[in-house]
Amino acid sequence: MCGIVGYVGGRNAGEVVLHGLRRLEYRGYDSCGIASVHGGRVEVRKDTGMLDEIEARLRLSGVRGTTAIGHTRWATHGGVTKENAHPHLDCTRRVAVVHNGIISNHEELRRELEARGHRFLSETDTEVLPHLIEEHLDSLPLEEAVLRALERVEGSYALLAISALEPGKIVAARNESPLVIGVGEGEMFVASDVFPFLRYTRRAVPLEDGEVAVITREGYRVLDRRGAPVSKRELRVDWSDEEARKEGYPHFMLKEIHEQPSAVGAALRIYPEDIAKLAEMIQRAERVYLAGAGTSLHAAMVGEYWFSQLAGKCVIAIDSSELENKAVVDPSTLVVGITQSGETYDTLAALRFARAKGAATAAIVNVIGSTATRIAEHVVMQGSGIEIAVCATKTYTSQLTLLLRTAVELARMEGRGTEEVEEGMRELPALLSKVLELEDEIARVAEGFFDVQNYIFMGRGINYPTALEAALKLKEISYLHAEGMSSGLLKHGTISLIDENMHTVAFVPPGGSNRRRVVSNIQEVRARGGRVLAVCSGEPVQGDACIALEEVHELLTPLLFAPAFQLIAYHVALRLGRNVDRPRALAKSVTVE
Ligand code: G6P
Repeated sequence: MCGIVGYVGGRNAGEVVLHGLRRLEYRGYDSCGIASVHGGRVEVRKDTGMLDEIEARLRLSGVRGTTAIGHTRWATHGGVTKENAHPHLDCTRRVAVVHNGIISNHEELRRELEARGHRFLSETDTEVLPHLIEEHLDSLPLEEAVLRALERVEGSYALLAISALEPGKIVAARNESPLVIGVGEGEMFVASDVFPFLRYTRRAVPLEDGEVAVITREGYRVLDRRGAPVSKRELRVDWSDEEARKEGYPHFMLKEIHEQPSAVGAALRIYPEDIAKLAEMIQRAERVYLAGAGTSLHAAMVGEYWFSQLAGKCVIAIDSSELENKAVVDPSTLVVGITQSGETYDTLAALRFARAKGAATAAIVNVIGSTATRIAEHVVMQGSGIEIAVCATKTYTSQLTLLLRTAVELARMEGRGTEEVEEGMRELPALLSKVLELEDEIARVAEGFFDVQNYIFMGRGINYPTALEAALKLKEISYLHAEGMSSGLLKHGTISLIDENMHTVAFVPPGGSNRRRVVSNIQEVRARGGRVLAVCSGEPVQGDACIALEEVHELLTPLLFAPAFQLIAYHVALRLGRNVDRPRALAKSVTVE
């Protein structure tokens, strides 16, 4: 989703902002631009395409001056064109604005502004902002002009504005879209998240909804909607800029897949008090929803099985965009948001909805200082380190680890024994390392088996969500068609699709009834001319291809299978020449509805 960076200080602002935009590339974008203030003028360079190619063509970083704002755009309102790229200007070219979010009343505002003589150059919702600001520019300082403009605006925004009349000042405002100030010595930063400024400072001040910040090289002031001062607390971010580098791996995705033993190890060390508090909240609540999107929803779905099978508690995993439509939310309900970024619009909306209904809220989050960490009453931090690739990998297995620990803790509180699972849980980092050692073999299978356009991924029990997540990984980065499903449902329709052009990947647990059932589903597929890759825990299974992994307790298999299917997706995408870290049309954090 759109990324925003601003800088004011002693350096060449264009270069600092370009570096910041590079750090936000992982969010996904289709166009970009930078504006600076210099010599009483606003200078803008922008276009469609990737940063490196636009830098080579237009020298984005060559904008002059020591105050600049920049933007990476992921199109929502208006096509992917140069005119629609940010920054946007007012009629007099004195104000430049970058914006992330959606101005929901933009059509009405645009009609009104046009009637007053404003000329629009783009189809975006954003462009109403510089024109609204322009109307107050001659009589008010920039921050007050922004506050006045925002009185008219409905919707979500994180925005930065600069003015030719006030060089050395950036005004930032936030409502439902993330924005964080970075506090340096004699220089200040502001961005959609902390990554753009980690090279320069670890001191961060996240803005809250309704706040407006006035940023100069000497410092910052934060105001509320009415312009009254707000006092803020600074956070120290312990992630280093180094962590965000590839460290010799060809892609961030591969680096992050290989970081799983340590990310899971970190999740195993997260404070027991934080886990115990979450378990108590779950025990106390009459109804519990685990709300997430994409990969985080799949982690929640695995969690459902752990809570029921280990702790005897019915917990419901729910697509956060459906919570409002489907869930029964009242003061006896607990909603747990599961969100790597802590910024997914729908998951934040689910948490806000829960709070408004008087329900208890908690969240499992990776990004420090993100919005979810401030909305939820209780937060368990993942401690997975930065995840840059759009595809979630290590943050998935660490979400799983935290959910498993919480279910084990709840089982203990309920007096249920979970020794075998607990023992296995301690071995997880070593177990994951062993799976990763099989990368060459997995790559060979990916080479030989993935030669058609369509795939079914199937699993039973706790590996039904594994099948969904494995299919999602393949779709996201290879653009091949994949469907995840419970193998029990295969006979209820999908089996009619099986032929030599539709391969199947089956997740096979060790021993027990689910193994027997999945094996029989594999036979059904093969009997109809379908090819099957079996990913097994324990004894290999007869199929057209097989990846045999260590035998573990069935309830731990989702963690064992994850690195295997992630590596499959990675190697298939690599072979097809896809942009593994930044797949088309996808964003790392989806900050709009
Ligand atoms: C986007 C990403 C997915 C991610 C989902 C939820 O769709 O592309 O990889 O799983 O958002 O993100 P969250 O940050 O809430 O876990």
